[in-house]
Amino acid sequence: KQLVGLVGWRGMVGSVLMERMQAEGDFDLIEPVFFSTSNAGGPAPAMATTHTQLKDAHDIAELAKCDIVITCQGGDYTNEVFPKIRAAGWNGHWIDAASALRMKDDAVIVLDPVNQDLIEQKLAAGGKNWIGGNCTNSILLMGVGSLFKAGLVEWVSSMTYQAASGGGANHMRELLKGMGVIHNAVADKLATPASAILEIDRQVAHTIRHDVPTEFFGAPLAGGLIPWIDSQLDNGQSKEEWKGQAEVNKILGTPTTIPVDGLCVRIGAMRCHSLALTLKLKKDLPLAEIEALIQAGNPWVKFVANDRALTVQELTPASITGGLQVGVGRVRKLNMGPQYLSAFVIGDQLLWGAAEPLRRMLRILLK
Ligand code: HSE
Repeated sequence: KQLVGLVGWRGMVGSVLMERMQAEGDFDLIEPVFFSTSNAGGPAPAMATTHTQLKDAHDIAELAKCDIVITCQGGDYTNEVFPKIRAAGWNGHWIDAASALRMKDDAVIVLDPVNQDLIEQKLAAGGKNWIGGNCTNSILLMGVGSLFKAGLVEWVSSMTYQAASGGGANHMRELLKGMGVIHNAVADKLATPASAILEIDRQVAHTIRHDVPTEFFGAPLAGGLIPWIDSQLDNGQSKEEWKGQAEVNKILGTPTTIPVDGLCVRIGAMRCHSLALTLKLKKDLPLAEIEALIQAGNPWVKFVANDRALTVQELTPASITGGLQVGVGRVRKLNMGPQYLSAFVIGDQLLWGAAEPLRRMLRILLK
């Protein structure tokens, strides 16, 4: 069995990865070695059969004993350790959730239901660096990647509604605390049906401005939204918006760049990212053909007919969260013309958006 080093398995993405690997029996196929940045020498999780003690995640010699390393430890760790382990001559496979290496020429952004061909091609050519995509882009392509692969997309405007989990565990907690603070501020009035709603609203507005915690998001998210994600670039885009075109084209391996742009917005969902898309198609295809293409994209597409009752039932975080299905709906031709298509895509940010492509890449390497 191949020796597989696991780093950052205790964090949020890492924990989801562990759960998925257990559910799919991945640990039966590997010899896991658990690494830690803080608790080397401590007991490893029960999945470890031979290497039952945690090893130091900064010990290059120990890491280099592994055939494969999977890390969810984050970009700082990657930036520090990856150059050292390669400089030490290690020739193993590096699978990484962080964005640090994503745009490097020798890295492939892995999303095998969409780019299995590219992965196989790079693998055959000696590729060793396999990086998970940005969550929003992976969900976009899991939803409507088949339209891109059919060569139909001239450009896409992608307006996102991104969940708190994209920021991390602390951000999810901050969202929930904020919800609680708001509710507490008006709980007594809410309990009295006769209370004036505008008085309740005044109190809520005051609470949002002054009392909702903002340590992690930098602005109140509960009861609101934040129309900026990640750092500011010189061209007016946010880093998250920049990633759209860069990563979508890299995942697909497009010979000429397909423009992808739009605004990325943080909303008060827990772990489902959504995207409202406008796609300019290269030709006027009948809607039924477009729908059939989307449905056939991959086994995880959950196509929802453009019907009110179905949409509000099926195309929501409440329906999608915690599962592998990627919802695609609101597909219709727009007033702008027969080549302009709308679509709404929604997926669990921690599954296809983060952990799932990594464990599937591991499976490809184990074949
Ligand atoms: N940058 C994403 C977000 C998560 O903040 O939602 C990482 O892919």
